[in-house]
Amino acid sequence: MIPQSFIQDLLARVDIVDVVGRYVRLKKAGANYLGLCPFHAEKSPSFTVSPTKQFYHCFGCGAHGSAIGFLMEHAGLGYVDAVTDLARSLGLEVPREPGTGGGRGPDPRAPGLLELLARAAQFYRGRLKDSPRAIDYLKGRGLTGEVAARFGIGYAPDQWRGLEAAVPDYDDPALVEAGLVIDSDGDDGRKRRYDRFRDRVMFPIRNPRGQVIGFGGRILDRGEPKYLNSPETPVFSKGRELYGLFEARDAIRRENCVLVVEGYMDVVMLARHGVGNAVATLGTSTTPDHVRKLLRLADRVVFAFDGDAAGRKAAWRALEASLPQTADAKRIDFLFLPPEHDPDSFVREHGAEGFREALAGAMPLSELMVRELSERVGLETPEGRARLLAEAAPLLHALAAPALKLQLVHRIAELAKLAVAEVDRYLAEAAAQSARVGQPQGRTPGAPRGADGGGGGGAASGAHHPGGGPAAEGPPWEQGPGQGGWQGPGQGGWQGRSGRWRGPAEGRRGFDRPVPRPPVARPDLEARLRLLVALHPGLASAVEKGEWLSPELVDWIDTVAALPPGSTAGNVVESLRQGDPASVRAFERAMASDAAALADLSAAEAAAELSAAVDQLRDRHIRRQIDELARGGLRTEADRERYQALMALRARS
Ligand code: UTP
Ligand code: MN
Repeated sequence: MIPQSFIQDLLARVDIVDVVGRYVRLKKAGANYLGLCPFHAEKSPSFTVSPTKQFYHCFGCGAHGSAIGFLMEHAGLGYVDAVTDLARSLGLEVPREPGTGGGRGPDPRAPGLLELLARAAQFYRGRLKDSPRAIDYLKGRGLTGEVAARFGIGYAPDQWRGLEAAVPDYDDPALVEAGLVIDSDGDDGRKRRYDRFRDRVMFPIRNPRGQVIGFGGRILDRGEPKYLNSPETPVFSKGRELYGLFEARDAIRRENCVLVVEGYMDVVMLARHGVGNAVATLGTSTTPDHVRKLLRLADRVVFAFDGDAAGRKAAWRALEASLPQTADAKRIDFLFLPPEHDPDSFVREHGAEGFREALAGAMPLSELMVRELSERVGLETPEGRARLLAEAAPLLHALAAPALKLQLVHRIAELAKLAVAEVDRYLAEAAAQSARVGQPQGRTPGAPRGADGGGGGGAASGAHHPGGGPAAEGPPWEQGPGQGGWQGPGQGGWQGRSGRWRGPAEGRRGFDRPVPRPPVARPDLEARLRLLVALHPGLASAVEKGEWLSPELVDWIDTVAALPPGSTAGNVVESLRQGDPASVRAFERAMASDAAALADLSAAEAAAELSAAVDQLRDRHIRRQIDELARGGLRTEADRERYQALMALRARS
């Protein structure tokens, strides 16, 4: 038996988006990821994966479950194998409860990718020690041996097949898969294989568990490319990983703040000067996935950019990626350094103190948004103020933090010389319009005015900054019809308290018209409650319990409430696997009845639905009791008292 606590912990650490993403092409759509369902044949995607719920669900065929469930269903693994597979991807040993045997030998397969990458990292570290040239280079940049060791910095020797000395079999296909070697066709038609990284300073990229998953290699002299990075591999994805996260973890927790910079050297040099909470994107723009990961670790995220045009452009992209991840309890700021500086040169010149001072003055997200928009549109003319509104609309809709949204609406109204109510009306119309045509109102937000010189930067920075950003990384409103990130209250299929079914096409955007389900005539409120609690376990403890809930439902709510804080739907279904089969059946029935209506509610919407459902159940219960007492004729004093009490209760609700 594998201990339940381990399962729950495992689920807290894996990301179902990563797990499913290994098998299914997923695209960001609003708060979720969307793809073609691997469990039934379909042409338009109705398979969704929710990072916040750690849960997948197909609106077409109803398949659903946790990361473990997915591996079992899709990869056909047994429970133990699925758990083992996930644990291995995190570098964890699966513990066994004593007395149940079941121990297995070590993995019989050849060294896996992680093992090969670890060996390569070790090899590069060793080669740094015997390369005075590389050591001089790093010293020349101000690095100390201690920091180099902390980041595992190494050197790839100037040899075509240096790694032959590091791995058991240089012809192992896994070496290509790990991105360590390159196969090319020789003139004689035979494959030639050689090391990807040669004569470069090597920065190992580690996952949050500390395992090496890729590398960045910097050329020592001038040359192209300045940095060579590992390609996308099964264990490494640039859009998801951040350089330095493992090394920075403690400092991030301590300071409750994470700093996001652009370069490997920035991270390392900040650490060298005592600013230990920095991470870097890996030569890509910031993705919503990055932001989500970071906001899980700290309440404040500060993006640092160069003060030049390219930096402003990159900042705007980071802002767009951040909007759907904002929360009122979190803070996202932007630090613009003087144009001649990157964090590395800045901290070398001004020291940690100077850098911290600059950090304290970083610009809040809302200010960056208002500033850039104002500058872009020109507020002097009615046309300019109209454009302000048009450009702000999709941004405000993407903004997840409700209180911050309110603030911004007020600010925009002020700048546009309109009343808040007028702005609200405009925003609602723009959203409705965009839902109708599948595109938002207003022109697509692009780079800030005057910041389009993306390339052509100086030698120190700029030339590599991605010109336009791959389409798949664009903001939600650029992702084509029906996928906008427009999320507001009342957009689940159920129309709040009235319980009126609005149908999937009408009620739920963000999905490409899933297979329509017949409207449910009268929702089973208990099933609905069960489902809401399962999908939003954080709400379990808030349910008002009483005689209006069946004992089974109360048990269910208590079970969910007992899960560790931060548990997701993924945790809930896995805890079910061990539990009472009747609960499992009840949950499956609930999923089948109105999952489509409930699956993509935000936490706030779910909380509203939940209290509405409880209210209805309580009302119904009270009414039934009243009827029963009345039918009995209220003969005893006790009956009459109870009747009064129930009437009073009813009047209150
Ligand atoms: P910069 O050009 O700003 O370099 O690239 P840097 O980090 O300041 O490097 P030093 O100080 O000259 O050593 C920032 C980041 O962009 C990516 C790398 O991740 C780099 O750290 N990049 C840059 C590449 O991937 N390839 C390149 O050719 C250049
Ligand atoms: Mn630099």
